[in-house]
Amino acid sequence: MFSPEPIGYVRSPYQNAQQVPKGLGATHEAEGVLEILPELEAGLTDIEGFSHLIVLWVFDRSAGFELLGTPPSDNRPHGVFATRSPRRPNPIGFTVVELLRREGRLLHVRGVDMLEGTPLLDIKPYLSSTPMETLKRGWLAEAEARHEKK
Ligand SMILES: C[S@@+](CC[C@H](N)C(=O)[O-])C[C@H]1O[C@@H](n2cnc3c(N)ncnc32)[C@H](O)[C@@H]1O
Repeated sequence: MFSPEPIGYVRSPYQNAQQVPKGLGATHEAEGVLEILPELEAGLTDIEGFSHLIVLWVFDRSAGFELLGTPPSDNRPHGVFATRSPRRPNPIGFTVVELLRREGRLLHVRGVDMLEGTPLLDIKPYLSSTPMETLKRGWLAEAEARHEKK
């Protein structure tokens, strides 16, 4: 294994978890900045051409994990690997953001759901190759259907 070091930090409007939209129908439109360490800036070369980025980061303000938990989007428990819970054995977060613009080592993005100061582990261009019609949404689709019936 290896010991990951942050490649930078997230500048986010969210200071605490209560401020981040949650539950069914929550959308993530908040703008923020991915601030990359100066010594890694060359690694951003040619990133401007991509509309969306995959961002991997650390749930640095979450402690421990639960193998079964009830997410805000449902009233039934699910396995941690079938959810996006912050309380996971390896506390790694994953967010797809829209790249608005680059200013040197600052990436201005839309769609942040991370807290201010969250450490970044990696950034990759988002290249979706899964057709929408083959995507299954598991328990979330069932929770959404129950919610719509109400
Ligand atoms: C449900 S998780 C999903 C995160 C990511 N999109 C994913 O799929 O891995 C989003 C929640 O993580 C929490 N969160 C964001 N940044 C965090 C951090 N640095 N440490 C701990 N929790 C954090 C916030 O409460 C937010 O509502």
